[in-house]
Amino acid sequence: MDYSKIFRLDNKRALVIGAGSGIGRECALALCAQGAFVIAADRDMASVQETCKDIPHGQALELDVTDASQVAALAALGPLDIVVHTPAINVRKSILGYTLEEFDRVIALNLRATFDVLRTAGAMMVKQGSGSIVLFSSIRAAATEPGQSVYGATKAGLESLVRTAAAEFGPHNVRVNVIRPGVVETPLTQQLRANEEWNSAYAQKSALGRWAKSEELAGAALYLASDASTFVTGSTITVDGGWTAIDGRYTPPLPA
Ligand SMILES: NC(=O)c1ccc[n+]([C@@H]2O[C@H](COP(=O)([O-])OP(=O)(O)OC[C@H]3O[C@@H](n4cnc5c(N)ncnc54)[C@H](O)[C@@H]3O)[C@@H](O)[C@H]2O)c1
Repeated sequence: MDYSKIFRLDNKRALVIGAGSGIGRECALALCAQGAFVIAADRDMASVQETCKDIPHGQALELDVTDASQVAALAALGPLDIVVHTPAINVRKSILGYTLEEFDRVIALNLRATFDVLRTAGAMMVKQGSGSIVLFSSIRAAATEPGQSVYGATKAGLESLVRTAAAEFGPHNVRVNVIRPGVVETPLTQQLRANEEWNSAYAQKSALGRWAKSEELAGAALYLASDASTFVTGSTITVDGGWTAIDGRYTPPLPA
């Protein structure tokens, strides 16, 4: 093993969905920096074109993953070694206040479209006998709070999907893993951060006492995409600054 090249992705083709913003954009940049040709896909073509300005080897693709015909058309992209998929939404409301329309909207993107991408990428990679698929969950799959019912359920469901996909695709040398971020400064969380009390409470909850920057998630995606993780599948990698490791309600007095 040449450890100096363990994270290199030369001659690899990657599809990064959600590459127009936040964590997806940083994953696209990171994979490209390690030599991959990156197809940067997003529903918002203008934002993904912006991302592509910072990617020397890549192309922009307009893609709405909730449209099954567009997902099916990904099979025509040619061989893909890596698929990273980030899109998700959250409607923060109490269970008693949730409408079924909101429930369906969150499920449609977070679970149904993710399932569709997973099986489409899986079919392509099983056929070629290799590949790595990286999905994004959330600490809300494990540690919840009022208002996170449907979002948390989609992320817990997604983690379960990953384990079954790992079982089904593993014999074909296709790996499937999921990253579980804590709170990250992206457009998805802009509204929360605008509330100073909320912003600071979330920062203090993690062991590191702050929010993550979106680039701090790219390393885990690169690890899972690369030969550094050839024996890793069906795994959840937590990148949450210690959020789920610690209780955080109270720091008891300790002897000096
Ligand atoms: N930001 C956080 O604090 C945080 C915390 C935990 C988990 N996560 C998870 O990380 C992932 C990425 O989050 P983010 O904060 O980077 O989000 P983001 O909102 O910044 O980016 C999501 C991207 O997905 C695209 N997108 C939305 N719907 C789409 C569709 N139908 N088809 C194609 N593209 C679509 C958006 O245009 C956007 O560019 C999500 O799965 C999210 O649940 C984020």
